[in-house]
Amino acid sequence: MSAETLSAAAERNKAPILEVLLHLIPPHAEVLEIASGAGQHVQHMASALPSVHWQPSEYDASGVAHLALALENSALPNIRTPVCIDVHDTHWSLVRPVDVVVCINMIHIAPASATPALFAGARRVLQAAGGSVVLYGPFREGGVHTAPSNEAFDQSLRMRNAAWGVRDLEWVDECAASCGFKRNALHRLPANNCLIVWGL
Ligand SMILES: C[S@@+](CC[C@H](N)C(=O)[O-])C[C@H]1O[C@@H](n2cnc3c(N)ncnc32)[C@H](O)[C@@H]1O
Repeated sequence: MSAETLSAAAERNKAPILEVLLHLIPPHAEVLEIASGAGQHVQHMASALPSVHWQPSEYDASGVAHLALALENSALPNIRTPVCIDVHDTHWSLVRPVDVVVCINMIHIAPASATPALFAGARRVLQAAGGSVVLYGPFREGGVHTAPSNEAFDQSLRMRNAAWGVRDLEWVDECAASCGFKRNALHRLPANNCLIVWGL
């Protein structure tokens, strides 16, 4: 994979995200990553948590092909073959149920409908007891941005695509609750991003 196709943000945020996941993901868990992008996070997590099985995914065939290419050289036995999942799909094609669904920097770079779809899909594929959803990214709280940089980022997203934008945390909580999830933890990470965990 060339340097151009790697995400600089992913390179910056993968260490702080891992720091939280190390305490969150139990040994031998099955983890589904939604929107794996260039596979930077899944490679970082899989090498640090070797007993955990990681299922990367992307939302269309071309994304899956790029992801598969990016993961080709990693040779990590605990990364499964990437699968195609658009969160709006009413069936997510997985070979086994999962314990954790992780989604990094997706819900603000997709239409609002992707957020309820993500929780609905997670509810279908998670093991009945103890399953959790982990989201990472910027969030508005109490109806306002948490930092001027997040507000500027939100404006730039909406100019690129009117359907995109930084989501209100309380609204994300409502989407989660309507699928039976309750917020368990909120970790404030660098660059005004949060890692948030919802459990069943
Ligand atoms: C900013 S990238 C983040 C990629 C990666 N998680 C990272 O942090 O480097 C946003 C990702 O969301 C994915 N995406 C957009 N809409 C989606 C959808 N409806 N279902 C699943 N993934 C989607 C895109 O394919 C893209 O990989």
